[in-house]
Amino acid sequence: MNSPTDRPDLSNLWMPFTANRQFKSSPRLLAKAKGMFYTTVDGHKVIDATAGLWCVNAGHGRQEIIDAISNQTAEMDYAPSFQIGHEHSFRAATAVAECMPEGLDRIFFTNSGSESVDTALKIALAYHRANGEAHRTRLIGRERGYHGVGFGGISVGGISPNRKTFSSALIPGTDHMPHTHNLEKNAYSRGQPEWGAHIADELENIVALHDPSTIAAVIVEPLAGSTGVLIPPKGYLERLRAITEKHGILLIFDEVITAFGRIGSSTASELFGVKPDLITLAKGISNAAVPAGAVAVRREIHDTILAAAASGIEFFHGYTYSAHPLATAAIMATLNIYKRDQLFKRAADMSQAFEDAAHSLKGEPHIIDIRNLGLVAGIELESRPGAPGARAAEVFSKCFDKGVLIRYTGDTIALSPPLIIEQEHINQIFGTLSEVLKTVE
Ligand SMILES: Cc1ncc(COP(=O)(O)O)c(C=O)c1O
Repeated sequence: MNSPTDRPDLSNLWMPFTANRQFKSSPRLLAKAKGMFYTTVDGHKVIDATAGLWCVNAGHGRQEIIDAISNQTAEMDYAPSFQIGHEHSFRAATAVAECMPEGLDRIFFTNSGSESVDTALKIALAYHRANGEAHRTRLIGRERGYHGVGFGGISVGGISPNRKTFSSALIPGTDHMPHTHNLEKNAYSRGQPEWGAHIADELENIVALHDPSTIAAVIVEPLAGSTGVLIPPKGYLERLRAITEKHGILLIFDEVITAFGRIGSSTASELFGVKPDLITLAKGISNAAVPAGAVAVRREIHDTILAAAASGIEFFHGYTYSAHPLATAAIMATLNIYKRDQLFKRAADMSQAFEDAAHSLKGEPHIIDIRNLGLVAGIELESRPGAPGARAAEVFSKCFDKGVLIRYTGDTIALSPPLIIEQEHINQIFGTLSEVLKTVE
């Protein structure tokens, strides 16, 4: 542990998505991580009920991943990814494709969820142009959607604070479907809510308004995490698929948080039995040990884009760090752990205990809804008048002091622990929440 005199100056770092002034007046600093736990710089042990930021699915400090990364650094630290390759990038692409629904087996590597989203939107535009439909340029997202922070992602995203400062620079021609969240109809649903499939039909109105021939793609998170855990109503995603298919519109599932076991399956597409045309990936793909992301693309889309190019580069897009050797090493080691330890099945097996523990909080002070799927739970609190988010912020802070790291968006507490969670961890997380809720005004 650092002694207090070794502590860094906090002023230079401009922290992302953080209340910088508030944080720096009472910082929370993590120093170590292993398994289900973080340790703070003061030696305080904190259970990770959020898998970092929904990303450390196999738990922290996995030796195989550490070894894979350090061996790769020694063997070859970096290789350019334009017009030259390294073997592990191809192996990693095959390993990722094996986790995807059949047919979505062309893999484009990125470094983050935001890059995956912007890449997927560009692939959609490139596909229609290659297919002789360059007039399909509109991109449709959804209210309360989060698709990262690139200009493409915030344009199709539906979170107003993420958009308003940049509104003059949002990409033109986007529109948004309504979100599916409805407490009156669906409060305290376990798993997928019964009510709300018809909300997908709103897409027909948007399509009619703009004319289907102008629309390139619809992007949704099959389960929205960052805006407060919104679980898709039964039948909703199926209807979105039917409508997009009918009008020749590509459907993109943003699975940056849902892929790799989070809801007890390889992808949300697999769990819900709905196959999109593209899937965006990041986070759990490398267990977050190295920044990494990818887009899984239906083969025919890839083939159409390649075939339409006369010669040379077919798709003018890519990153210096696409398929970075450390990322591909981390990806392969991570996917091996998922497979060997059957962690997606494990998540499915633990989900009932997780659901029961989450719903056992019903009746605690301030709670107005509890929703869950797989190893994701959202606990919505009534907002304090005139101070949205303040109550959940207090719960977050008190839980942390009691050794439990949770997340909150607005007044919804979001839980998404590593898939290695045991019953004793579930007890600790929900037991602490129950205690803390009783002390919050
Ligand atoms: C659904 C979804 N898409 C995209 C992103 C952006 O990912 P990143 O922060 O890696 O850019 C996130 C991050 O939480 C996400 O939840």
